Formats: sequence, structure tokens, C-alpha cells
Amino acid sequence: MSETIATASETITLTIDGQEIQAKAGQTILQAAQKNGIYIPTLCALHATKENGLKTDIAPGTCRICTVKVNGRTMAACTTPVAQDFIVENDTEELNDLRKTIVELLFVEGNHFCPSCEKSGSCDLQALAYRYQMLSPRFRYAFSSREVNAESPKLLFDRNRCILCRRCVLAITTEDGKQLFGFTKRGDKSGIIMDEELVKNISEEQAQQAMHICPVGAIIRKEKGFDTPFGQRKYDHNPIGSETVCTTCNGEKS
Ligand code: SF4
Ligand code: SF4
Ligand code: FES
Repeated sequence: MSETIATASETITLTIDGQEIQAKAGQTILQAAQKNGIYIPTLCALHATKENGLKTDIAPGTCRICTVKVNGRTMAACTTPVAQDFIVENDTEELNDLRKTIVELLFVEGNHFCPSCEKSGSCDLQALAYRYQMLSPRFRYAFSSREVNAESPKLLFDRNRCILCRRCVLAITTEDGKQLFGFTKRGDKSGIIMDEELVKNISEEQAQQAMHICPVGAIIRKEKGFDTPFGQRKYDHNPIGSETVCTTCNGEKS
């Protein structure tokens, strides 16, 4: 099927899981899906809200959990712009097994001990493991041992739980645009580093934002642990994906 490049004002019609939806040129498949109340899982991409302090959506395109099939080809929904007549497969057995595989790989690659993790109950990775009914990963644990950095007065940074999504790198900056977090090295040596000086002077609000935007428990704000008790956390009552509400109709079906 041929794809036409859309102009900015154009309304685009595409199909996701057999449902015909309208999108604006320039939107990604993920943005179009969210606008229409269709859930596509994410780990690195994040929709801008007042709560997370983001002014624009971010999509580093690092995790591939949002993989969909577009006209039969696998693509990342968060980085692929919509085009007229796209046929998108999303909620299929094949793609959900692929997503489960990514979750399993992330679990064996890091060190995740959920019962002792401050993020438990609010963690996107843990919530996706529940969603895809992960019991025991089909891969061998890497048993990696990574540095925990507790030198910052406001943040605890545990690299054992970091999934290298890069949200912190893109989202946490000083007013003049300096990044507090950065990416270092490649392959299995790659990791996130903090600018010690900048992080030392991080404000209360930014420390809270850093903990909030991290999808897992790698960035923890000191002295705020267990502010929200177990049983009242983000995914304690409703599983991940159930928060997706059509922003046009606010979930009210006609
Ligand atoms: S970061 Fe998430 S998956 Fe990892 S130990 Fe904490 S709660 Fe579990
Ligand atoms: S520290 Fe958190 S936000 Fe930053 S890359 Fe790691 S998992 Fe992502
Ligand atoms: S959410 Fe799309 S690549 Fe991470």
C-alpha cells in the first residue's frame, strides 16, 4: 500500500486493531491511539501532564515495548508518524508475546527484588509483568551487580533497576538546558550517569519529578519513601492500561 506524506493541517484516517480512527498529521501512532482511548504499552515514551511536569510528550524510542505492525511491518508506535490508510495491528497474541519477552529480558538483565523496592505498586515494569502474566522469565538471569549512588542529598540512584529508557536524560534539565542525567558507553557497558554537581543542587520539585518520571525504582527521592502506603499506589487497584481514556470523549461512550 502506498503512503502519502501528510501536510500539518490534514486529518488522517487510519485503522488500529480494526477500529477506524482520525488523527492529525505529525502525530505518532501512539499519540493517535491515546487520543482515541486505545492502549499501546509504553516504558520510555511519556505523555506530558501537569503531574509529571513535562510540557511536551517525550519518546526516546529505546524500549520497543510499543512495537506494533504497520501494514505488516514491525515499527515503534511512539516514533512512527501516522499516515493515511495505515493498518495498525496492536493487541495481537504475537505482539503481546513480543512485549512479554521484552519485559522478561529487562527483568533478567537487571536486579529486581520487587518486595523490597520503594516503587513496587507504582512501577511500570512490574505492572507490565502482571499485564502479560510473567511468571518465571524464559531467559537466564545475568546476575549483574551495579553501583548504587547515594551521594546526592535528595536522590538515591540504583542502577540495578535502571532499564536505560532515557526518560531522565531528556526530561530533567536545568533552566538553561543542562542535563542532570546522561548516557555513557555502549552495549552491555551502557548506563546512566548523573552530573554530581548539578544533582547535588537539585530542587525539591525536580527531585520529585525525577522520581516520578522514572518508570521503575532506579531514581528514588530520599526521605520520601513510603509516603504512599502499599495498597494505595498507582497500580494497586487498576492494572496498567486501564488508565487509557479517550481524550475526546473522556471515556463516555455514546
Ligand atoms: S523497579 Fe519495578 S520491577 Fe524492579 S524491583 Fe522495583 S518494583 Fe520490581
Ligand atoms: S534512571 Fe529511570 S528514567 Fe533514567 S534511564 Fe534509568 S530507568 Fe529510565
Ligand atoms: S515506548 Fe516506544 S520505544 Fe519505548
